[in-house]
Amino acid sequence: MPTEADFPANGSDLEKLRFLVNYAVLAPSSHNSQPWLFITHDNRISLHADRTRGLPVADPHDRELVISCGSALFNLRVAAAHFGVPLSIERNPDDHEDRLVNIAIDPKAGSHDTLAALFEAIPRRVTNRFPYQPGSVSAADLHAFAELCASHAVSLRGYSDDASRHAIAERVAEADKQQLASDAFRRELAGWLHHNRTGSLDGMPGYALGFGDLMSLVAPLVVRTFDIGEGVAARDRDLAEHSPALCVLSTSADHHDDWIRTGEALQHLLLEATRRGFAASFLNQPVEVDRLRLDLAQHVGARFPQVLLRLGKPTREAKATARRPADAVTIDAGLHENYRAFQGF
Ligand SMILES: Cc1cc2nc3c(=O)[nH]c(=O)nc-3n(C[C@H](O)[C@H](O)[C@H](O)COP(=O)(O)O)c2cc1C
Repeated sequence: MPTEADFPANGSDLEKLRFLVNYAVLAPSSHNSQPWLFITHDNRISLHADRTRGLPVADPHDRELVISCGSALFNLRVAAAHFGVPLSIERNPDDHEDRLVNIAIDPKAGSHDTLAALFEAIPRRVTNRFPYQPGSVSAADLHAFAELCASHAVSLRGYSDDASRHAIAERVAEADKQQLASDAFRRELAGWLHHNRTGSLDGMPGYALGFGDLMSLVAPLVVRTFDIGEGVAARDRDLAEHSPALCVLSTSADHHDDWIRTGEALQHLLLEATRRGFAASFLNQPVEVDRLRLDLAQHVGARFPQVLLRLGKPTREAKATARRPADAVTIDAGLHENYRAFQGF
């Protein structure tokens, strides 16, 4: 990973934009699938959904895939603000396109100083799946996080009371059981699980899930072979019930644009949370099961729930997971055209 000192202050627009991708790739993504592709043009760059990295069982509509790309976009925006690069971002409203946004440098766009303050949190943010300190999120914290999300037209509902946490925890447990009873779901998940000393640059090493070295070696086989739904459901129910806060991010519609904005709001919230010493992890299972998503929507009074998060002060530090470097996810537009022609052939 290059350092800040490597920023090409006197370079071309494209060199600057390419450099910012180093920070985009540190975003979270479902199963650490890193489903993004940056395509370079003369003086701009476009962010594409890399659907070859989709999760057809857990995420059949590519919703989480596009949300993950939205988080990568937000990191890029924060890094741009830090290096004083004014960006213009053109959003593609077409749901059938892989190209999600065009990004160019535009001096008329002005600076976003408030985003720059989040820069130092980009490399420190990780998903922390350990328990959190009880009572460590206040109503004022939740209010501040909701305001951040609202600036992306995404609503955040936060819950710290026993009854709400219990009701949501029950839905998480039910979703766990339903998903893990499926051979196809387990096979897909196992494909992204790695042992602790893996050299893989994507997917989830066992330590990210709290596994020791031995457990991390057998985890993919266990997940693929056995229905571990009851055990996982019991653990997640307990985690959810004892979370200082559970947060549901939702939108009023359910298109690409809503998913990209959800990703941006999510990453905004996660970076601000990191900056303030909070940890976060995902309990997205009930959003991934259609019937339970509808049920969750009715329960919390939201139109389209997109992400369910746990938030609190950590009891243990969590370690970062690997990423594919910027060069591996950035390609030249000419090459991309050849690739499309090849696909047509
Ligand atoms: C849209 C989205 C949904 C996710 N859902 C889950 C989830 O249900 N359970 C979970 O443990 N992690 C979930 N994650 C977290 C990813 O597994 C995590 O971001 C990835 O492994 C990279 O690790 P990091 O966040 O520590 O960098 C989700 C992430 C995103 C962006």
